[in-house]
Amino acid sequence: MTVVKNICCIGAGYVGGPTCAVLAYKSPDIKVTIVDLSEARIAAWNSDNLPIYEPGLDEVVFACRGKNLFFSTDVDAAIQEADLIFVSVNTPTKKSGMGAGMAADLAYVESATRRIAEVAKSPKIVVEKSTVPCRTAQSMRTILEANSTSEIHFDILSNPEFLAEGTAIKDLLNPDRVLIGALQTESGIEAQNALVDVYTHWVPKERVITTNLWSSELSKLAANAMLAQRISSINALSAICEATGADVDEVAFACGKDTRLGSKFLKASVGFGGSCFQKDILNLVYLSTQLNLPEVAAYWQQVVIMNEYQKKRFVRNIISTLFNTITNKKIAVLGFAFKKDTGDTRESAAITLIKDFIQENARVAIYDPKVEAEQIYMDLSEPGVVDTQKQLEKNIQICQSAYEAADDADAVVIVTEWDEFRDDQLDYEKIYAGMKKPAFLFDGRLLVNAAKLRQIGFKVSVIGKNE
Ligand code: NAD
Ligand code: UGA
Repeated sequence: MTVVKNICCIGAGYVGGPTCAVLAYKSPDIKVTIVDLSEARIAAWNSDNLPIYEPGLDEVVFACRGKNLFFSTDVDAAIQEADLIFVSVNTPTKKSGMGAGMAADLAYVESATRRIAEVAKSPKIVVEKSTVPCRTAQSMRTILEANSTSEIHFDILSNPEFLAEGTAIKDLLNPDRVLIGALQTESGIEAQNALVDVYTHWVPKERVITTNLWSSELSKLAANAMLAQRISSINALSAICEATGADVDEVAFACGKDTRLGSKFLKASVGFGGSCFQKDILNLVYLSTQLNLPEVAAYWQQVVIMNEYQKKRFVRNIISTLFNTITNKKIAVLGFAFKKDTGDTRESAAITLIKDFIQENARVAIYDPKVEAEQIYMDLSEPGVVDTQKQLEKNIQICQSAYEAADDADAVVIVTEWDEFRDDQLDYEKIYAGMKKPAFLFDGRLLVNAAKLRQIGFKVSVIGKNE
């Protein structure tokens, strides 16, 4: 029976950091070292100011850092020491070459795998934590096996991560399920059992699912595709609601009461963002195309098409409500992160909306409680169009509060559902007093009580409602 005593995690990002920090927190008998090529990221993990904002993360890291949890740039040493290695590197959509704009870029997974093959001096269990196309473990296995000897044997497992940002610690401490896929060989199953034993330090055994490797890889893409599909479904219905007078909240509530459907993930919005939904669906579309399944590819592609449509539809509604022009008007954008309780802006709907506002020559004032100004400038720069912060500063203003953003604005647009933008937390009378009149408010998150704000004097438009 293999007992894991020393774990290395390659990749100290949004997944590797929180996942392995919780693992260390719950398993004092296991030494966990999280490594990354980025010196800045590792320095931040070793400081008081962690590189990721995630509720509850500080407490977990500070409780075990320096005891059984370590952050390092010495990738080779950590690989050599470990019995089990998580590969938790980024797998972004390819920007060029074959499959550009669709396929996952597996260069980082491959280089981490090659590093393991090159420096390992003892047997290792290598665990695919990154989200990858189905059958990636086969390529990793080929690389590892080409370097194995009679003393150095590699087992490969798939253990996709299902945490959501903003609730990562809660999700990791109390996961719906942990999924571990393995080759159905004697040594594959032994490795699988060793990882099951790691998770059962804190996860009830019945929530740890074991499958074959390919089911595990595909289940991760499938879960994200189905979650995103629900959002695109409710967003498609939100357009019908606006055109008919049905109320999307009421429709979601009525549908969600059906226990076969369930109530979660039916919140209409300005469109889903985040680093994974779009990337993973495109990955599934590419896989389907490669497998010569064009109807399957078209089916999933539609989820992304609907998401783009929702963002454009929201912008069109804003422009038409503001008398068909926003040139020189000041638009206050509340929220820049892709969801609340994170500073992550990857694929945030805010980026698409603000770029459209700038194209229309509006002046945009942005406030987000957790996103740094440099990140906003970086996200809004368009190589070849707006290259420098100076050029952008003509169009955008980064603010320190919602009040500053809304001051003298023609319209307030709620893009991220931060609690502090709720009508019981933000003083909307004060916001209204400072705005140009008529004062417009567009709620892309169904966050505020529209009737209450209308009483103050706002002209309110809410996604999926036509009141
Ligand atoms: P990330 O970009 O935040 O972190 C990846 C890290 O890996 C980076 O810090 C990078 O420097 C490092 N890295 C890349 N190649 C390396 C190498 N060869 N050696 C050492 N370090 C290397 O990415 P993330 O958000 O943590 O996502 C990682 C994977 O997990 C992706 O496949 C993603 O799809 C998946 N995932 C992400 C989430 C999420 O909420 N972000 C949730 C579930 C799954
Ligand atoms: C998502 C999944 O929920 C995780 O299970 C998965 O592990 C992760 O992707 C991943 O693979 O990266 P995440 O993107 O962090 O997690 O956050 P979600 O809560 O899923 O939100 C994604 C986007 O959908 C956000 O922009 C959110 O505002 C939006 N959303 C979510 C809606 O518009 N409506 C909803 O009802 C739910």
